[in-house]
Amino acid sequence: MKRTFTNKILAEKGSKVQIAGWIATRRDHGKIIFLDVRDMTGTVQVVCSPELAKSLRPEWVVEIEGTVKERPDAMKNSAVETGDIEIAAEKIAVLSEAKTLPFAIDTNGYEIGEEKRLQYRYLDLRRPRLKRNIEIRNRVTQFIREFLVKEGFIEIETPILTKSTPEGARDFLVPSRMYSGKFYALPQSPQQYKQLLQVAGFERYFQIARCFRDEDPRGDRQPEFTQLDIEMSFVEQEDMLRLFEELYTKVVEELFPEKRIIQTPFPRISYKEAMAKWGSDKPDLRKDKSSPNELAFAFIVDFPMFEWKEKEGRWDAVHHPFTRPQTEDIEEVKKDPANVLAYQYDLALNGYEVAGGSLRTYKPEFLRQVLEFMGNTKEEVQEKFGHLFEAFEYGVPPHGGIAAGLERFLAVLLNEPNIREVMVFPKTGDSRDLMMDSPSEISPGQLKELSLEIKKRK
Ligand code: AMO
Repeated sequence: MKRTFTNKILAEKGSKVQIAGWIATRRDHGKIIFLDVRDMTGTVQVVCSPELAKSLRPEWVVEIEGTVKERPDAMKNSAVETGDIEIAAEKIAVLSEAKTLPFAIDTNGYEIGEEKRLQYRYLDLRRPRLKRNIEIRNRVTQFIREFLVKEGFIEIETPILTKSTPEGARDFLVPSRMYSGKFYALPQSPQQYKQLLQVAGFERYFQIARCFRDEDPRGDRQPEFTQLDIEMSFVEQEDMLRLFEELYTKVVEELFPEKRIIQTPFPRISYKEAMAKWGSDKPDLRKDKSSPNELAFAFIVDFPMFEWKEKEGRWDAVHHPFTRPQTEDIEEVKKDPANVLAYQYDLALNGYEVAGGSLRTYKPEFLRQVLEFMGNTKEEVQEKFGHLFEAFEYGVPPHGGIAAGLERFLAVLLNEPNIREVMVFPKTGDSRDLMMDSPSEISPGQLKELSLEIKKRK
């Protein structure tokens, strides 16, 4: 017999069906036992005789055959999708048994120590709150894909084994077996690839991209996270902002109708004004901060291009070195670096930075001058960015882009206190994966193959 998902059972009144899933609850009424059986789509009540269900325990995996019956009116439960019906079990097969779970999964879970939850994440994910978060995450990414494809964008995957690209964090490095002493870097973002794709002529690129940054995790920061990454050719700043505004407004309208965006178009606020008024470049502009449904978006624009790095004794890019300054005259830059503005924009939402991007410097000579101004020697520029310069010599369109932290956006939309609650397998606050037990040591054989020797820290 073919299995029916619980959300399709309603249409099967009077028929014989087979379901499969986990026993969510078991209520023993002596002569009769009620089971709630859970599958990916929901739950359904099963009525069994004690002979059939005597030994069954919560979280066992079962396959049940029975007849779908309308419940007596007094027994209907409108809170559950299948609350009008139940299955009278005729046959139950136990597919696997389960130990008692290390914690309850029918609560919201905030009351449980997070280390335990992360160690048994596959059980934690059975919790309805987390299951819903992950399902909504899927709907949001699907919606974004459909929207962008309709706008003429194409989704392209870029490499994970790559070369360091400056996003201001430390790289995760992967030793090369074939080239001893050499390393790949995991991408902090697909920044350079997406720019090179503009040279290639993919004028409207996007990617739901994995990014890796070796920094200390916080509530809104993980070493591994996902960006909605976009790059376009022949655009001005306002084109980018309008596109993104439309996308996020539609995501909210379509998927979170209970939310209210307090101002559209999103206000454009200069960095200077934001700092002067709110002392932050990601101000929380909600009128009622206690309301769970208020969304206050704002684009922060006109960031300074450079900041002085005291320790290193040099000017560095506030965002990244590919950002286009609002002047293309290097002499002007040198005269007063602190006051050069950039075509850079961030999107703030309820006090979080949920996206950031810029127009890029695409004129090779000026980019070289800027990189040298930031303390790179000619040789370093060649070594780090030679591929980009070479590419830019073959016809580069003016271009710009934006990248949005998907988890931050979701955490705000779902009123979650941190981004771990919208990720399936996040790392702990000290960057460990307690379930897989990583990072972990590797074997002497692997070390040898990679020509690596470990010096233990004292
Ligand atoms: P940026 O570094 O500002 O820009 O990153 C873009 C957005 O990604 C999110 N984000 C993070 N989310 C979770 N954990 C992290 N560790 C983390 N770091 C960043 C934030 C942020 O706004 N290549 C440029 C974009 C561009 O210029 O197009 C970039 O990566 O929401």
